[in-house]
Amino acid sequence: MSTKSNTMWGGRFATGPDAIMEAINASIGFDQRLAAQDIAGSRAHAAMLAATGIIEPSDAEAIREGLLTVLSEIEAGTFAFSTALEDIHMNVEARLKELIGEAAGRLHTARSRNDQVAVDFRLWVRAQCDAADAALAGLQRALVTQAEAGADMIMPGFTHLQVAQPVTFGHHMLAYVEMFARDRSRFADARLRMNESPLGAAALAGTSFPVDRRMTAAALGFDRPMANSLDAVSDRDFALEFLSAATICAMHLSRLAEELVIWSTAQFRFVRLSDRWSTGSSIMPQKRNPDAAELIRAKIGRIMGAQIGLMTVMKGLPLAYSKDMQEDKEQVFDAADSLALALAAMTGMVSDLTPAPEVMRAAAATGFATATDLADWLVREPGLPFREAHHVTGALVAMAEARGCDLPDLTLDDMRSVHPSISEGVFAVLGVDNSVASRRSEGGTAPERVREQVARWKEILA
Ligand code: ARG
Repeated sequence: MSTKSNTMWGGRFATGPDAIMEAINASIGFDQRLAAQDIAGSRAHAAMLAATGIIEPSDAEAIREGLLTVLSEIEAGTFAFSTALEDIHMNVEARLKELIGEAAGRLHTARSRNDQVAVDFRLWVRAQCDAADAALAGLQRALVTQAEAGADMIMPGFTHLQVAQPVTFGHHMLAYVEMFARDRSRFADARLRMNESPLGAAALAGTSFPVDRRMTAAALGFDRPMANSLDAVSDRDFALEFLSAATICAMHLSRLAEELVIWSTAQFRFVRLSDRWSTGSSIMPQKRNPDAAELIRAKIGRIMGAQIGLMTVMKGLPLAYSKDMQEDKEQVFDAADSLALALAAMTGMVSDLTPAPEVMRAAAATGFATATDLADWLVREPGLPFREAHHVTGALVAMAEARGCDLPDLTLDDMRSVHPSISEGVFAVLGVDNSVASRRSEGGTAPERVREQVARWKEILA
């Protein structure tokens, strides 16, 4: 047990905290990641205190210089973090006092650690929104490059993971470009809403000093000060929004990862992952394992876990600040790191991916993938109602299946035995190329449509 009372808040305490009290209370082990944001916030605050005449300009200048020294010490890794000083805020201030003396004690005028930590964390999460956006743009570019090369590559499209209709590889890649675009807009949206400054809310009620909250908000790149001081220090919805966007993004990543796992198996062989993105087995020499894809597929576990974890921390907390809220950081840090790594790995894997067009094409020609084209032809040419066309096609599929052949391998007589109105022209729609080329509807898989979308995305992402 430490007998010295805390130098920051220990004025009324006779002894210091129990060692375990200190251990459960300290956040410096993880909130040192907020150092740069903490110092940026303090610099903005000190400049404002001088501009409003709350402190002397000479003290503000000493604080400014001292904070820059502290930052360089932290960046150089020479700063000695202390658990007794609990958190990043008090660690920085204590070092500032060692460096500049009494003036350091004026920095905390008109401020509390409650608005301080809210500012730091907002700045940190805001930067993560920007980082996620940039990483997602990089992933989109890699996907568009694959889409352009694969605009004509025919592959089976699946529903229920059963061959459904032929599509193009380019179209499939562009589906993910759209998903990641919506992820980007979710991060942008969250960023817009979180971009208000809590600074000046002080402990919870605001301050009696004539602070200029607009000045600190502007200095930190916030759009405006938060309107209510109680709200400013007590909500972490901005972090929850980041985690929600991250969870949805991780879900999208997991689907692409899963497809890469399936496509790279010996059974599918639709794509080959490069050596850089595969691992071997220590016992089975033939193995090329898609470990990165599997890990990306799994990352949603911890990212969504963080979202549920923080939501649970916040649920039912009375206003305003409670120490529970110190439990907000580690899971957000972990989720942001996991997302960044998953996005980087996925971008690398997609960039290095080699599709196997012949294999995909052969797979598209099995499983009666053009049955819908046959049914559509029966509607268009002899004019059958779609339901009857569906029924006739079903009978033809059963016939082909019984003979172990594909639909185009049936003779015209075979087809006429099921429905007399079928003519030679039907064979023109049965090949996979015809099928894909005919799907020209807006948003469809036809190569010309895919190329239009590729051009649109190249322009957006340029
Ligand atoms: N380390 C604290 C946190 O992360 C900073 C705020 C402390 N405020 C307080 N009133 N004890 O939440």
